[in-house]
Amino acid sequence: MSKTIENLMTAFAGESQANRKYLAFARKADQEGHRQAAKLFRAAAHAETIHALNHLKAAGEIKSTTENLQAAIGGENYEANAMYPPMLAEANASGEKVAARSFEWALEVEKIHEALYRKAAETIGKETPDVDYYVCPVCGFTHEGPLVGKCPVCGAPGEKFERVE
Ligand SMILES: [Fe+2]
Ligand SMILES: [Fe+2]
Repeated sequence: MSKTIENLMTAFAGESQANRKYLAFARKADQEGHRQAAKLFRAAAHAETIHALNHLKAAGEIKSTTENLQAAIGGENYEANAMYPPMLAEANASGEKVAARSFEWALEVEKIHEALYRKAAETIGKETPDVDYYVCPVCGFTHEGPLVGKCPVCGAPGEKFERVE
């Protein structure tokens, strides 16, 4: 990897984080009644997304959908099997319950994501019924179609799930 590609990927990671951080800050500003600050956080967050996508594109990391699905499978597999287990174990060992729950929810959901991506990779280009995905607003559990009952990962009610087209 050239130094510039490495720099692009480092910048991509930083801009991606800034995007999510500013959106979290915007939500907090809204809760506190600071409308103008919330708007600025959202505007800057949007700009950071543009930067992040420019960097990713310049690094040559946006390929065909078939290749992108393989990249996504690899990423989710790594998170569920290599990245999160030691993080979860460490948080449990040190009694950091909020962190442990956050890691555990993500770990469980990344397994589902990998399975959904594998299914998509197998069926890409074939006639398949159109389906919307539903995402748990608490833990991120992702489901094909509406969920009846409770989220299997965190227990949130299925009717709270957000539909994604
Ligand atoms: Fe995921
Ligand atoms: Fe959930």
